[in-house]
Amino acid sequence: MELLHNIEEVRNRVRSWKKDGFSVGLVPTMGYLHEGHQSLIKKAVEENDKVVVSIFVNPMQFGENEDLETYPRDINKDSKLCDETGADLIFNPEPEEMYKEGFCSYVDMNGLTTELCGKSRPIHFRGVMTVVTKLFNIVTPDRAYFGMKDAQQLCVIKRIVKDLNMDIDVIGCPIIREEDGLAKSSRNTYLNKEERKAALILYKTISLGKDLLVSGERDVNTIINKMKDNINKEPLAKIDYVEAVDLETVEKIDVIKGKVLIAMAVYIGKTRLIDNFTFEC
Ligand code: PAF
Repeated sequence: MELLHNIEEVRNRVRSWKKDGFSVGLVPTMGYLHEGHQSLIKKAVEENDKVVVSIFVNPMQFGENEDLETYPRDINKDSKLCDETGADLIFNPEPEEMYKEGFCSYVDMNGLTTELCGKSRPIHFRGVMTVVTKLFNIVTPDRAYFGMKDAQQLCVIKRIVKDLNMDIDVIGCPIIREEDGLAKSSRNTYLNKEERKAALILYKTISLGKDLLVSGERDVNTIINKMKDNINKEPLAKIDYVEAVDLETVEKIDVIKGKVLIAMAVYIGKTRLIDNFTFEC
């Protein structure tokens, strides 16, 4: 497995693969890889001849008071995991390589980014869309793999690909959880012992929401309020949002109908965690 830092080198490698008729899968990540990322890489390895994992903590998607500086990084551990999982290439650029002097072009969207995480992280999706578009242009993959934990991100990326006619299959993969249910996240490493225990409230609340739907509840306010009440029972938890939206448009809904995403962001201490589930009726 190769580790490349330079855009031109990646382009040359992919060009030579394509000349030989190989299909290419891309797994975009910010590193500090865990079993969630590993499941994406495994799927990419199954479905493509060659797999690129990008590891880039993208400054453009972090707000001013967010965790850009402290975001965990460990390229040696990540390289081992990618190699063992069957990836062919890691693309690990420096910010200066991705955003050369004078950089001033962005990818943006009306709608889809206004609810959920877009409300509390106003510049986040512009940064994600810009960097993912750049990665797509650099790697030119046939398929790209994203986790459902970042459900809104997945909806947004599917929409850019559709709206901007990118010839890439965007594949969403299931949330991978710890044994006790906490969704795997690189940010879980911020939690101390007490917070780690408290963080379980997210999964417990996801389970509560699912149970309500399975038992026939269809009123969004009732479901969301019961979920919020449950989170508020945990003293270390502070709700950023709990919302139900249409899975395709990411617009708020009043009644459960069609494909629905119920998503939450909750602070456990200073750490902001997200989780969600989808429901179809
Ligand atoms: O989900 C992530 O890790 C990031 O938002 C992504 C897609 C790699 C873009 O920086």
